[in-house]
Amino acid sequence: MSRSAHPAGPRHADVLPEGHYFAPPADLNALEPRVWSRTVDRNEDGVATVAGLDVTRLAEEFGTPAYILDEEDFRARCRSWREAFGEAADVFYAGKAFLSRAIVRWLHEEGLNLDVCSAGELSTALAAGMPAERIALHGNNKTEAEIRYAVESGVGRIVLDSFQEIVRVAHIAERLGRRQRVQIRVTVGVEAHTHEFIATAHEDQKFGIALANGQAAEAVRRALKLDGLELVGIHSHIGSQIFDTSGFEVAAHRVVGLLKQVRDEHGVELPEIDLGGGLGIAYTPDDDPSEPHEIARALREIVERECRTAGLAVPRLSVEPGRAIVGPTTFTLYEVGTVKELPGLRTYVSVDGGMSDNIRTALYDADYSVALVSRTSTAEPLLVRVVGKHCESGDIVVRDAFLPADIAPGDLIAVPATGAYCRSMASNYNHALRPPVVAVRDGAARVIVRRETEEDLLRLDVG
Ligand code: LLP
Repeated sequence: MSRSAHPAGPRHADVLPEGHYFAPPADLNALEPRVWSRTVDRNEDGVATVAGLDVTRLAEEFGTPAYILDEEDFRARCRSWREAFGEAADVFYAGKAFLSRAIVRWLHEEGLNLDVCSAGELSTALAAGMPAERIALHGNNKTEAEIRYAVESGVGRIVLDSFQEIVRVAHIAERLGRRQRVQIRVTVGVEAHTHEFIATAHEDQKFGIALANGQAAEAVRRALKLDGLELVGIHSHIGSQIFDTSGFEVAAHRVVGLLKQVRDEHGVELPEIDLGGGLGIAYTPDDDPSEPHEIARALREIVERECRTAGLAVPRLSVEPGRAIVGPTTFTLYEVGTVKELPGLRTYVSVDGGMSDNIRTALYDADYSVALVSRTSTAEPLLVRVVGKHCESGDIVVRDAFLPADIAPGDLIAVPATGAYCRSMASNYNHALRPPVVAVRDGAARVIVRRETEEDLLRLDVG
């Protein structure tokens, strides 16, 4: 789907913002590889398949809505990140994008490390056997209990986010007779070109310690004095769903500037830099993300150049992709329940999920694409809005998309690129039962996170 000045204009074009027409894709039945995971295809009957499995069979066996995760695609993405960064760097998968025990095992097997940001994520990581030294703990307000849990477990690093936390982690580590490896999260003052809620490096937001006003240098000063801490590096994360590497360039420049200041002031060369995650993925065929090797080359070049200029040894680099690894691996499979045409306005296609399984459209005005997957169709393209079943008119899954005009109740449709921040941000709004995550690989499917049941809901309701 592309936003362009399409002279003919589709049906219902009158309700689109002035000057914007959505051009229907050349082939409505095509499953564009840029937005679908790599084993997705259609069989001779026109039914979409993933890992060789027919989606109508998956729907029968596991129900809808369901997140269908392509394990081979996930592993391949892990390997491309690992290989792109090589032995001189570490790739930490950001667990907040989506975490489960199976995911942890795959990460471990593929040689990635793991970022967690809560006791819940840490316990999942440890339960699935990720070695603690390959785990980093994040968060702008870690509780004392979370810090103690992380230090006792022996996590490889804790990323410090405030002056209070510097002292808090140092005291807890000392009390436990440990010296905790830490990094300091700095705010580099970059305006990342992304939605305000997921931009994190401008000054006026809650994360990190500001570089510009000297607070980051002061944080280093304090951390270096504390026996419970081994300060190993500086961390920066500028935001999420970013396509343009210029923000990372500015971040690297400023972080290396701090390393130089630390060397000049304390005679210490900090050995690590983490440039965070945030690399964008294709939600629609219009998005054009970079490949891991391009990103790795760009980041390495920036860091090496900046260090050369500053006369510093090149520190060990790490990155923290979440969305870029898991996002494209998954699609959400829905069944159409109703098709409501509002004459002269638009057509609403309601599915059996909605904002409880994908809050991103409502929260960030995120763009998604959608396709009819239980069959192909030769009907003309119809501009529709795909909505959920929740009691809210903002319950939109795909704001504007083309489906065949014969779309009907009982059809299965799928929304690709829902692997990141959909299951992990899912809710029980309206007492919805959160959908399962079904992993598919080589013609086999297995549930890695099961569907919630009404008993699950009632178990928490102890009144
Ligand atoms: N590292 C840190 C310190 C982070 O805070 C994040 C994301 C990441 C890495 C991973 O970023 P990624 O590569 O996945 O973009 N719920 C929002 C995204 C919030 C991101 C929070 N932090 C969304 O659905 O777009």
